[in-house]
Amino acid sequence: MKRYLFGSLGLLMLIVTGVASAQSIEKAIKYRQGAFAVMGWNFGAIVDMIKGKRPFDQEDFARRAKIISDVSLAPIEGFLTESSEGQTKSKFEIWENFADFEGKMKLMQEAALNLSVVSLSGDYDASKRAAIKLGKTCKSCHDEYRKK
Ligand code: HEC
Repeated sequence: MKRYLFGSLGLLMLIVTGVASAQSIEKAIKYRQGAFAVMGWNFGAIVDMIKGKRPFDQEDFARRAKIISDVSLAPIEGFLTESSEGQTKSKFEIWENFADFEGKMKLMQEAALNLSVVSLSGDYDASKRAAIKLGKTCKSCHDEYRKK
């Protein structure tokens, strides 16, 4: 049993390191950008609703808020070390201040979850406030860590 256990652990470690090295930097960059693109797409529609450019549809608003909240958990994994080169707008400073960057990601995740919960109530004003709050967390990170 013991030998079986250690054998599988060794195999697992081989698989994990194998996966990490095969996962190219290019893929990681595409992954984080893809996650952000999904968030941006849905947040754009939400912003249009709160600006009155698109009719407020509570169900659609809540569906999009949930997508943003779920996907907000994804991009951090795509920020592999040393992936500031290539087709990316990520600034090198991200890896110099990674704890701060992760903190900003967390604030965004909390604001997105809050928006998702609030939007279920159907309260337009509260949903609007929560969306503005979320938008500020996006902007504060972009201002500091995303190239123009
Ligand atoms: C903790 C930092 C951080 C937060 C928070 C953040 N972003 Fe970003 N975002 C970035 C970085 C860095 C990039 C550049 C990614 C790259 O090119 O490697 C980016 C890129 C993007 C892009 C461009 C994606 C593409 O097609 O290349 C969109 C759209 C975007 N973010 C939307 C959002 C939205 C909407 C929010 C908030 C709901 C948000 N971001 C929150 C850091 C952040």
